[in-house]
Amino acid sequence: MINIRMATLEDVPAIAEVGLESWRAAYRGIMPDEHLDTMTLEERQRRIEKAFARGNTVKFIIAQQGGLMVGMSCVVLDSAKEADCGEMETLYILPEWQRRGIGAKLFKAAVKYINANGKNKMIISVLEANTNACKFYERMGGVYLRTFDWDFGNFRLPVVVYCWDDL
Ligand SMILES: CC(C)(COP(=O)(O)OP(=O)(O)OC[C@H]1O[C@@H](n2cnc3c(N)ncnc32)[C@H](O)[C@@H]1OP(=O)(O)O)[C@@H](O)C(=O)NCCC(=O)NCCS
Repeated sequence: MINIRMATLEDVPAIAEVGLESWRAAYRGIMPDEHLDTMTLEERQRRIEKAFARGNTVKFIIAQQGGLMVGMSCVVLDSAKEADCGEMETLYILPEWQRRGIGAKLFKAAVKYINANGKNKMIISVLEANTNACKFYERMGGVYLRTFDWDFGNFRLPVVVYCWDDL
C-alpha cells in the first residue's frame, strides 16, 4: 500500500535520490546530457536542506511503498512567480513506479496542505517538452496560464505554467 506523508529531515537523503533519478530519466533528451550528469546527490541534498530551512511555508510530501520512497513533491505556500498563490515546485515519481496513481495521490496531498493553510490557488511550472507531465497536470484540472523561457545558464527551454484558481 502506498503511504503518503509529510517528510522530516531524516528523509532528505532519500528525497534527493528519488528526485535525482526521476529528474535525470524525465529530462534525458530534453536537457543536455552534461547538465543532467554533472548534478550530484550531495548538491541535491544541500538544496533540499536549504528548502527545509525555509520553515513552515515549504513542505516536502513523500510517497512510500513499504520502507521504500517511490515519489516526492515539494510544495510552497507563497509562490515567487504568482501573487497569493501556492506552488508545487517539484513532483517526481521513480520511473518504475509511474502511472500507478502515485502522482495523483501526491497532488491531492499538496492541495490539502495548501487548503489547510487558507489558500485555494496553485501553480505548477513544467517544461513544454515534458509532454507526459503536461498531460498529467491537465488531467488534474490545470489550466494553461502562460509560457516563458527558463534560462538554465548554458541553455534555455520553454516552460508552461498551469494554474488552479479554485482548489
Ligand atoms: C508526471 C508524473 C508526476 C505523473 O505521476 P504518475 O504517478 O506517473 O501519474 P498517475 O498514475 O497519478 O496519473 C494520473 C493520470 O494522469 C494522466 N497521465 C499520467 N501520466 C501520463 C502520461 N505519461 N501520458 C498521458 N497521461 C498521463 C493519466 O490520465 C493518468 O490516469 P490513468 O493512468 O488512469 O490514465 C510522473 O510520471 C513523473 O514523475 N514523471 C517524471 C518526472 C516529471 O516529469 N515530473 C514533473 C515535473 S514538472
